[in-house]
Amino acid sequence: MTRIAIFASGSGSNAENIADYFKDNTEVEIALILANKPDAYVLERAKKLGIPSFVFSGKEFRTSEIVLDKLREEKIDFVVLAGFMLLVPKYLVEAFPNKIVNIHPALLPNYGGKGMYGDNVHQAVIANKESKSGISIHYVNERYDEGNIIYQAETLIEPNDTADDLATKIHALEYKHFPRVIGEVIL
Ligand code: GRF
Repeated sequence: MTRIAIFASGSGSNAENIADYFKDNTEVEIALILANKPDAYVLERAKKLGIPSFVFSGKEFRTSEIVLDKLREEKIDFVVLAGFMLLVPKYLVEAFPNKIVNIHPALLPNYGGKGMYGDNVHQAVIANKESKSGISIHYVNERYDEGNIIYQAETLIEPNDTADDLATKIHALEYKHFPRVIGEVIL
């Protein structure tokens, strides 16, 4: 059984989608959901899904190993970042070599890096009048959005699309592909 931990900082719709995808899977289990904010809605989703959760602060994440201790305690084999806003510290990247993946809502290496998350990304893509955008699923290293890319999917942008229209298209790609790609990478 591969035990997965999902990290999120906000709503957690991707986390829920991944949990739903693996719900009846006998080889993969979403064993823990972690958040760096006590009021992150992903924690409500975890409760509803019956998945244990763990909350930590950015300071604890950066300056202690309590998160790593928790992952070890829960015998986690693989880590998924799904809307997680913090940089992953070196100690965690090293503890899970090629076992941490992230989804970024743009076609890396474009529109990546510090500060490029959520709507900031879609607004920048629309402002630059790009004809397409998409998702990038990649391994995580100690720098934002720079790990090896595993999978990308594209969506066309219509001339009158707003950042919200693009966000809707991107979320649809995320829900369609992220769980499947996770399954392919871990098995
Ligand atoms: C997603 O668009 C993801 O690509 C980005 O943050 C957003 C998280 O959304 N990293 P949710 O919390 O999964 O609803």
